[in-house]
Amino acid sequence: MPEDCRPPSLTVDGLVVRFGSRVAVSGLSFSVRRGEIFGLLGPNGAGKTSTLSAIEGLLTPDGGRVTIDGVDVREAPLSVRARVGVLLQASSFQPELTIAQIVRLFAGLHGLRLDRGQIRARLREAGLEREAGKPFRKLSGGQQRRLALLVATAHEPPILLLDEPTTGLDPQSRRQLWDRIEARRADGGSVLLTTHSMEEAQAVCDRVAIVDLGALVAAGTPEELVGSHRDDPRVRAVAHGEVTLEDVFIGLTGRMIRD
Ligand SMILES: Nc1ncnc2c1ncn2[C@@H]1O[C@H](COP(=O)(O)OP(=O)(O)OP(=O)(O)O)[C@@H](O)[C@H]1O
Ligand SMILES: [Mg+2]
Repeated sequence: MPEDCRPPSLTVDGLVVRFGSRVAVSGLSFSVRRGEIFGLLGPNGAGKTSTLSAIEGLLTPDGGRVTIDGVDVREAPLSVRARVGVLLQASSFQPELTIAQIVRLFAGLHGLRLDRGQIRARLREAGLEREAGKPFRKLSGGQQRRLALLVATAHEPPILLLDEPTTGLDPQSRRQLWDRIEARRADGGSVLLTTHSMEEAQAVCDRVAIVDLGALVAAGTPEELVGSHRDDPRVRAVAHGEVTLEDVFIGLTGRMIRD
């Protein structure tokens, strides 16, 4: 099937999220197709985490709707939980639980009974085998991130939501994570990730959306975005030579640092 005709597995339609008088997401729409890695890019405070929270049902949207395989997430929260794996921007676990206990516990929450050998195999895959008996508080930042990803994907969900999955990872772990995300895509899974790394967006994302102040600024493949904004004076003004995705990003969202 041509890529553009693949059915969307995740659709966000006119999403609105407010925190008191602050509008975090302001009528955002996009969809992620089956077998696609989709990147949500935006400056700090753009509304990326709020969008993911609404998709996974952690907060109730003030407007718009989210569907997963055509089903409204508000109507079938349990089926969403089964179909979606979530890596939060800041994930933490009970500091005194061991790594093996955490994996067993979270797999159990998804109805998955893992025996000792299976837990070991998964920890090995994530490069955490030697940490199995350690309490969570003794893991390095990168190890914590790898554990959070293992937990998010333990039930092999067809849709993955990853909020800044590679922040704090060393280049080796980052490449390994990219490989794992790409393997999911090859199996027909869908991935929605956020990142501040334009290099990452270009390396792994089939399409990206740039959001600012909760609204869509531009969307397309990284190549399309560079091609269609190459001559935009805002982009030209920030480019140093050949226009890059980062130039497009800064040109369209401005140089100002957000709070
Ligand atoms: N629980 C909350 N209560 C009040 N305001 C919030 C809350 N969560 C987020 N916000 C505000 O909503 C806006 C969007 O925040 P959000 O965390 O979605 O941005 P983000 O794009 O994920 O940013 P970052 O790149 O820094 O992670 C910001 O202005 C933020 O201050
Ligand atoms: Mg965020």
